[in-house]
Amino acid sequence: MKKIAVFTSGGDSPGMNACIRAVVRTAIFHKLEVTGIMHGYDGMIKNEFILLHPKSVANIIQRGGTILKTARSKEFLTLEGRKKALENLKKHDVDGIVAIGGDGTFRGALEFAKICDIPFVGCPGTIDNDLIGTDFTIGYDTAINTVVDAVDKIRDTAESHDRLFFVEVMGRDAGLIALRSGIGVGAECILIPETVTDIDELTKRLKSGRKNKSSKIIIVAEGDEAGGAFTIAEQVKKRLPDYDTRVTILGHIQRGGNPSAMDRVNGSRIGFSAVEALLAGKQGVMIGVINKKITYTPFANAIKHTQRLDPELIRMLEILSL
Ligand code: F6P
Repeated sequence: MKKIAVFTSGGDSPGMNACIRAVVRTAIFHKLEVTGIMHGYDGMIKNEFILLHPKSVANIIQRGGTILKTARSKEFLTLEGRKKALENLKKHDVDGIVAIGGDGTFRGALEFAKICDIPFVGCPGTIDNDLIGTDFTIGYDTAINTVVDAVDKIRDTAESHDRLFFVEVMGRDAGLIALRSGIGVGAECILIPETVTDIDELTKRLKSGRKNKSSKIIIVAEGDEAGGAFTIAEQVKKRLPDYDTRVTILGHIQRGGNPSAMDRVNGSRIGFSAVEALLAGKQGVMIGVINKKITYTPFANAIKHTQRLDPELIRMLEILSL
């Protein structure tokens, strides 16, 4: 192996830069050339390759976002697009690839493997934590801290006005951000796509809570099947007209910001191990950290995120918020 490529793809996440830095510096330590591909799979198709040096990744470990930019490529979903991407990789003599991204990135890698013979490894970079094969994806910890910080502020005003707040957090298919941040802020309830949301049950729960509680916070994952926070709040308001209700959608602030120490360390470890995994002949696997140890999970298993949620944590949240 003489030259590897690294790229970021899908939604950006804090800690991706730490991971890129680790990939570049580890590769150079092992006398490999490193090319960065801009804008994920799109850049692979459009030939956006740049040479990376140790200095190219200086002063980025603390920055959110990704210096390599990112995209959700429509063209890569077509065989034609994937063929163009492969042509460019061959043109640049790439003989190993590190992809940093989430679910969609590894689905893309699985499809690509049908025509691409270049070894491919993945680093879990997504705020959603919806991948099997790592305790924490890169960016999840920072996003949780952003949510907790924002909801603490909402709690202050909710408490002053005796209000019920619905706070919508990210998670199109997964409620892991809602669950962990919900525990962290002492939310009264969380609504997530993995469990069925019953508005009547929710209303009952809100009414039966401690009587002198002045504020209530419901964390809603954006992918909840009952609708977004506005839709759910409207339905609850019909049943509980006396409640002073407000809705806040946290949106993309959850994806930005300086990565937490944990995301920097996790991103560095995973990026470092990804290069060493390629050199050891591994391919088609996502690098993760489980119980502090580096692990390798085939892409096909990594994307089965529905097995991820721990029902015991939901039960605990409900008991603790009484
Ligand atoms: O990064 C993952 C994610 O945050 C999802 O939770 C969310 O649904 C999605 O990205 C939204 O991303 P975008 O606005 O970039 O399409």
